[in-house]
Amino acid sequence: MYKISLITGDGIGPELSDSAISVLNTINDKLDLKFEITTLPAGDKALHETGKALPDETIQTIKNSDVCLKAPVGESAADVIVVLRRMLDLYANIRPAKSYPHMSALRDDIDMVIVRENTEDLYTGKEFSLGNAAVALRIISEDASKRIAKYAFETAKQRNNMKKVTCVHKSNVMRMTDGLFAKSCIEVAKNYPDVLFEQMYVDACAMNLIRQPEKFDVIVTTNLFGDILSDESSQVVGGLGMAPAANIGDNFALFEPVHGAAFDIAGKNIANPSSFLLSIKMMLDWLGAKHHDTKCFTVAQKLESVIFDLVKSGVKTKDIGGDRSTSEFTREITNKL
Ligand code: NAI
Repeated sequence: MYKISLITGDGIGPELSDSAISVLNTINDKLDLKFEITTLPAGDKALHETGKALPDETIQTIKNSDVCLKAPVGESAADVIVVLRRMLDLYANIRPAKSYPHMSALRDDIDMVIVRENTEDLYTGKEFSLGNAAVALRIISEDASKRIAKYAFETAKQRNNMKKVTCVHKSNVMRMTDGLFAKSCIEVAKNYPDVLFEQMYVDACAMNLIRQPEKFDVIVTTNLFGDILSDESSQVVGGLGMAPAANIGDNFALFEPVHGAAFDIAGKNIANPSSFLLSIKMMLDWLGAKHHDTKCFTVAQKLESVIFDLVKSGVKTKDIGGDRSTSEFTREITNKL
């Protein structure tokens, strides 16, 4: 029995959470893997109702669970997810971009993953006023850079792909901060002679993600660059509706879609739940590895195949060229499970 804490979020968050609960309940009933799900408030609605975007009880319940699922939140994201990442030391943000067939995607031959450092950089939001200017503090440390580089090389080693790590930075301009990040990655690369290593400036990377995305396997980069590049990479393979993410630490992990609360389509039952359901797939793989539970791997594989097969057969939501609603698409998945 795995205890899952589930932040239901804002905007399309509740619709995606309903879909996730439905799929998890089906797994509970049919596939011999048991979950106890506790839904939790956090985000704009929680801020409005309780005065806190991340209520204390939510934090406590997350800490008492085996794993956390988080639907997107809105404008208070910095006070929810950025805080949780640092509080739980979820230092690796893993964002795969993988082609699925029959998508309105730019490319159908992509299988890459962005490994984004998740605890430092401008993303910590340490800013202050200085006269009539504003200053942001960017801290990059050797320890955090080496830790994420190691995670990226281990990921490349395990993946069935090119076994290549591309370190993305802008050390020609930010010589101290990105210089340290690049230097740390070069150091770590020496321990992985079987993994190809290359460096790329972030502007060149943004261009190459469109021009020749098939050349990427694992990208390792700093927090803000990773945030931006992963929205781009998801678009290359069909859009944010298909983009899952994992926030991983040594002892705990949180899984969420790459995208935000999508207020423009909230309440219309048209959001693509795949981003959240593929995050559940990543969660199952993580639980399987942590608890040596092969059932988790089997169900993870099954869930991905069901989504893959549905999309292939043309059963898909509007954002990727289909006509199914969120709830219809979810029902197709639970039927197939
Ligand atoms: P967004 O990621 O919410 O949406 C961008 C575009 O993608 C929109 O047109 C939206 O309709 C579409 N989209 C996103 N997810 C989709 C899905 N599952 N199915 C179909 N279409 C989908 O970005 P935006 O509009 O910049 O941000 C909205 C809010 O989300 C903001 O308040 C922001 O602060 C918050 N946010 C929260 C995040 C989190 O909880 N981790 C991450 C990013 C943004």
